Formats: sequence, structure tokens, C-alpha cells
Amino acid sequence: MIENLRGKTAILTGAAQGLGYAIAKAYAREGMCIALIDVQEDKLKQLAEELKAEGADVLPIAADLADAASTQRAAQQALEHYGEPRVLVHNAALLKERSMIDVTFEQWQKEVNIIMQAAFLLSKAVWQPMIDAGGGSIVFLSSASAIMGFVREVAYTPAKHGQEGLMKVLAMEGTPFNIAVNTVTPGAPMNTPMSASTYSEEMKQRWIDPALLAPAFVRLAKVEAADSTGQRIDAWQLSQSLKPA
Ligand SMILES: NC(=O)c1ccc[n+]([C@@H]2O[C@H](COP(=O)([O-])OP(=O)(O)OC[C@H]3O[C@@H](n4cnc5c(N)ncnc54)[C@H](O)[C@@H]3O)[C@@H](O)[C@H]2O)c1
Repeated sequence: MIENLRGKTAILTGAAQGLGYAIAKAYAREGMCIALIDVQEDKLKQLAEELKAEGADVLPIAADLADAASTQRAAQQALEHYGEPRVLVHNAALLKERSMIDVTFEQWQKEVNIIMQAAFLLSKAVWQPMIDAGGGSIVFLSSASAIMGFVREVAYTPAKHGQEGLMKVLAMEGTPFNIAVNTVTPGAPMNTPMSASTYSEEMKQRWIDPALLAPAFVRLAKVEAADSTGQRIDAWQLSQSLKPA
């Protein structure tokens, strides 16, 4: 486990809102340099201004992670600006509930690309720089949809399953290079724009501020392969366990 994240770099996707926003705020508090990637340019700029005003070193990168070339350009921009990252958090995702009857190939591919293709392309981009740096940590956002099936999730569920598979392979291949690769499930209902459109009213009664899950992502920015790799981690449980007694 590395002790201090000050001056270390994070590449964070889906930073403009929801859980990604909470992770960005937490990494800024740790003194990390953050490449913030999102498709929502205005919200991203707003977040970057907010973090800069708090003294953080951040680089907003507007990119469409459904598009391979845009994803690769974003990764390149982050690497050219900051050098090798200590942590890559691929948090961006899109969930549009559609059945097999309704979904088009283009709609299916967009969700799969944001979740799965971008997980591969971003990991590929940071892989050699992390090897050269002697290690790093890669985190993908998982979900109950990575473990079981849900109706009207013809794209999201298989993409989240695929990301789990990629994590398992990269964890094995990354161990000799001290690259930790893990996935994270929130572990608690979160109050985010995605949840606002997908949760039942009953779940909305119980949802929590995603900032309460941020300690888990700070811990995962510090881990080395010997500490944790190839695991699916519950962010709520990990964050609770990190609270001072
Ligand atoms: N909300 C939940 O209950 C829940 C449960 C399990 C897992 N998750 C996962 O947690 C992560 C964060 O979820 P959230 O609830 O904060 O979601 P959200 O929809 O509120 O935020 C997702 C972010 O990803 C960005 N994004 C979407 N498409 C993009 C694209 N093409 N290119 C670049 N950025 C793009 C959005 O602009 C947004 O800022 C996701 O991976 C999600 O699958 C969420």
C-alpha cells in the first residue's frame, strides 16, 4: 500500500456527476492531480473550476467514451499532461432500460462501448506506463448487473459482466508488474442522476450520498497488487471499515 497520494495522478471517467463527482472531490482532497473525463462538457468545466478554486490540479477532458478514437485521444491527453497514473477509475456508464424487442444495434453498442470497450482501451493506454512506473491500480465500476441478469438491460448487464471478466484477466497479467486490478460495487443505493431514472420510489427512500462511498476509492488508489487484486469490492463496506473507531 502506498502511504500518500499527494501529487500522484488519477484518471477518472464519468466525473461530471453522481459517484464520479464524489470520487473527484475526494481525490482532490488527497492532493491528487486528476484527469477528469466525461462527455458532458459544461458540467465537467464547472467541476474543474470548483476543484481548481479549492487548489486542486485538474485537467478536464471532454470525450465520448462510446467512440474508440475519442477514448484513445482522452487517455493520450491525460498521459501527456501528467505522465503515468497511480490509479485509473473507469466509472462512466450509460444505462437505458430497453428490452430485446425495443433495442437497436446502435443503442446496444453505445452502452457496451462506454462500459466494456472503454475499460479495455483505457487500461491498454495506462498498462505500459504503469509497468514502467513499477505499478498502479485499475478500478472498474461493477454492479449487481455484473453478477445477475435484469430484464430491460440487454446492453448494460452483458457489458458489466464483460468488465468483470476483463478485470480477472488483467489482475492475473498485472500481478508480475504490481498492477492491482479490481472492480467495485456501490454496496448501497446511491443518490445519482442514473439512480433517479432507474430506482423505484422505495429505493429512493434509502439512497445515500455517493460521497459516503468515496473513502473506498481513496483506499483503492493506494493499493498494490499484493494488497488486493482480482477482487470485487463492496464500496459501502470498505468505506465503513475505514472509519475511525
Ligand atoms: N447508480 C447506481 O445505483 C449504480 C449501481 C451499481 C453500479 N453503478 C455504476 O456506478 C457508476 C457511476 O454511476 P452513477 O449512478 O454515478 O451514474 P451517472 O449516470 O449519474 O453518471 C455517469 C457519468 O458517466 C458519464 N458518461 C455517460 N456516457 C458517457 C460517454 N459516452 N462518454 C463519457 N462519459 C460518459 C455521464 O456523463 C456521467 O457523468 C457507473 O459505472 C454505474 O454503472 C451505479
